Amino acid sequence: MDSSLLPSQSRVSLNHHLYAHAKVPDGLRHLILDIARATKYIHSAIRTTEAGLAGTINQFGEEQLQLDVLSNEMFERHLEESRLVATFVSEEQENVVELNLKAPYSVVFDPLDGSSLVDANFAIGSIVGIYSGNQVIGRKPREQVTALYVLYGPRTILVYGAGNGVHEFILNDVGEFILLRENLGVGDDAKNYSPGNLRAVTDTPFYRKAMNHWLDAKLTLRYSGCMVADIHHILSKGQGIFTNIGGSKYPEGKLRLAFECGPFAYLVTQAGGAASDGAISIMDRPIETVDQRTPLIIGSKNEVEKVAGILKNA
Ligand code: AHG
Ligand code: MN
Ligand code: MN
Repeated sequence: MDSSLLPSQSRVSLNHHLYAHAKVPDGLRHLILDIARATKYIHSAIRTTEAGLAGTINQFGEEQLQLDVLSNEMFERHLEESRLVATFVSEEQENVVELNLKAPYSVVFDPLDGSSLVDANFAIGSIVGIYSGNQVIGRKPREQVTALYVLYGPRTILVYGAGNGVHEFILNDVGEFILLRENLGVGDDAKNYSPGNLRAVTDTPFYRKAMNHWLDAKLTLRYSGCMVADIHHILSKGQGIFTNIGGSKYPEGKLRLAFECGPFAYLVTQAGGAASDGAISIMDRPIETVDQRTPLIIGSKNEVEKVAGILKNA
């Protein structure tokens, strides 16, 4: 076993890191740990149930609860139990949910991202953003005090940022998140590209232009269909570009501002990259509605600028 996974003095837990490195206030630290605990239940459900796998029915012959519904319940229960959450916004719920308006934080989340990939056994994830106060509507992603995601791949990892770099943890055998890499960085130039909602090239000529530019520049394609996996690839390799541009069935792109684009904009920007909707930074886009979509161009700065430039001149 890798010695970094053994209890020793060199082992840094998520709790310790939040306390000693990020120095987040105790309430926020507890909330992040409660959210991390919810994701361990999701991790376990993925490993131990057949929910969402093709052709599976439960012992009573009924269709099993979908994994995204199950994951949403895990989140909801843990947020409630924390006593620290005023309101939350989930991909699985139409409206803002109020828990205790006097509590200090509000949370946005996509409990299971890439849910259409579950039956294919591809990597999937959870995405979370945390705001101070009891409102999310009217806020900008820049105002988040923390963003994090969990990637359920061959291994389960958690990446968080709380204003002091972006850090990666691995879930060990006894269910603790242990520090893997500190201060993940995104360099200015991209070698990999990850083009989402690519069907938009049919009626968005600029997107086809961007695609041709990547082909001509001989970038390497890395696209799984789960933005958690695809954007983690950028943070892990230290470069890359991920896009989900408007067109075809989705004129504003497929992704939601509050709980998909916002948290990733916060993390990638903090790691030295950029996130744009083609005109302005995603960090400055006010969240107007729960289900608001936005085009997303995110990753290495120079490449984000280049693609936004192709869009502007289209
Ligand atoms: P969800 O499973 O939460 O609905 O989100 C899936 C999203 C995102 O993860 C991914 O990047 C995008 O849908 C895939 O879109 P395309 O099929 O257009 O590539
Ligand atoms: Mn999603
Ligand atoms: Mn989802």
